[in-house]
Amino acid sequence: MTLSKPLAALLFAGAILIAGATVAEALHGAEAAKDRMGHMKALGKSSKAVFEQVKSGAPDMAVVKVEAGKIALASRQLPSWFPPGSGQKAEPKSHALPVIWTDMAGFETKAKAFAAAAARLDAATQSGDAAAVGPAFHDVGAACKGCHETFKEKDKT
Ligand code: HEC
Repeated sequence: MTLSKPLAALLFAGAILIAGATVAEALHGAEAAKDRMGHMKALGKSSKAVFEQVKSGAPDMAVVKVEAGKIALASRQLPSWFPPGSGQKAEPKSHALPVIWTDMAGFETKAKAFAAAAARLDAATQSGDAAAVGPAFHDVGAACKGCHETFKEKDKT
C-alpha cells in the first residue's frame, strides 16, 4: 500500500509529536530546573488565587475548584520535577538545595505531606464545602513552607 502524500505527512508530524512528548517527560539538567521553576511559579499563582478567595470571607467556589485542582495535580507530579543532575550546578539560578538529592527520602516525605494536604483541599472544594476550604488551604500553605524551609534556598518566596 502506498500512502497518499497528505496522510504520510500527517503520520510524520505525529511521529515528531510523540518524540517531542518523550523529550518533555525526560527533561534533565538545566532544562529540568527551568521547567521546575516554571511549575513552582504556577503553584505560587494558584495558591495566591485560593488565598485571595479565602481572605474574601465568601470564596468564589468556581475559582477555588479550578485552582485547587491544579494544586492537587501539581502535588502529585512534584517529585518528578527533581531529576538527579538538575540542581544548582546545572542551573545557577535554581534555588533547589543540594540536600534534596542527598536526602531524597526526607524530600519525598515533605512532598507526600504536601500531596495529602492538596488532596484534602481538592476534596473539600469539589464537594462544595466552603467552610472547609480555609483550614484545608492553611494546611497546604504549611506544607509548602515545610518543604521550602529545608530544601529551598532562602532569598525567594
Ligand atoms: C517537597 C518540596 C516542596 C514543596 C511541597 C513545595 N515547594 Fe516550592 N519549591 C521547592 C524547591 C526546592 C524550590 C526551588 C526550585 C528551584 O529554584 O529550582 C521551590 C520554589 C518555589 C517557588 C519559586 C519559583 C521561582 O523560581 O521563582 C515558588 C513560588 C514556590 N516554590 C511555591 C510553592 C508553593 C505555593 C507550594 C505549595 C502550594 C510549594 N512551592 C510547595 C520545593 C517545594
